[in-house]
Amino acid sequence: MMGHIKIPQHIAIIMDGNGRWANRQGLPRIVGHYRGAEVAEEIVKACANLGVKYLSLFAFSTENWNRPQEEVNLLFDLLKSYLSQKKEELLEQGVRLKFIGRRDRIGRDLRLLMEELERDTSQNCRITVILAVDYGGRDDILRAINKALRLEFSSIDEETFSELLDLGNIPPPDLLIRTAGEKRISNFLLWHIAYTELYFTDLCWPEFTPAELIKAVEDFSRRTRKFGRILDE
Ligand code: IPE
Ligand code: IPE
Ligand code: MG
Repeated sequence: MMGHIKIPQHIAIIMDGNGRWANRQGLPRIVGHYRGAEVAEEIVKACANLGVKYLSLFAFSTENWNRPQEEVNLLFDLLKSYLSQKKEELLEQGVRLKFIGRRDRIGRDLRLLMEELERDTSQNCRITVILAVDYGGRDDILRAINKALRLEFSSIDEETFSELLDLGNIPPPDLLIRTAGEKRISNFLLWHIAYTELYFTDLCWPEFTPAELIKAVEDFSRRTRKFGRILDE
């Protein structure tokens, strides 16, 4: 079955359902986020092994600031401690780490850590993991427009505009996976998903596994991408 599987060059994941998974077992939501971080790590390894070149993970949206302050704080504490522990491992595994999203509303310690990790993993080329933190698709587009205005463009084409977005030269996702049954985009990579194949699963993110990832990739393999054209049958 794995014989003629098409491997997406870029997979994007909306890692949803941490809170519901925890609630279902009578655990505090943050336990779901901890488990979610472990799953993210397993999925990074699985993607690298499959030969996926880019993996974009939605970790915190521009709207997630509207959650209770306590949950927001715990999420950022978790992100900080996780990232500071994982540096060596990322280097060993050949992971290049890149962050997308706003940098002006997160704490100085985390911001410096993000910059350090981007710098220190910049020579790695096995897989690029893009972590979306304080990311919103609309915010990304608006920041790009404001950059274009500052550069005094009088008009702009798609290619140049793409380069002003946080993903820059990275090709758009071929496959977008969302867990936990919700069938929406929730302001993730809006510009980039114009022709992305969408895959939804009812499993919550803490329940997601490398085997489920392969299921999604197999499903993707069976899709016919037409990009508006007519294909010979
Ligand atoms: C996804 O899980 C993680 C973040 C959005 C930070 P949720 O926290 O949204 O979990 P549910 O959707 O409430 O179950
Ligand atoms: C999307 O999940 C954001 C992340 C996974 C980081 P949400 O849980 O915030 O999305 P909604 O509120 O259900 O649309
Ligand atoms: Mg959610």
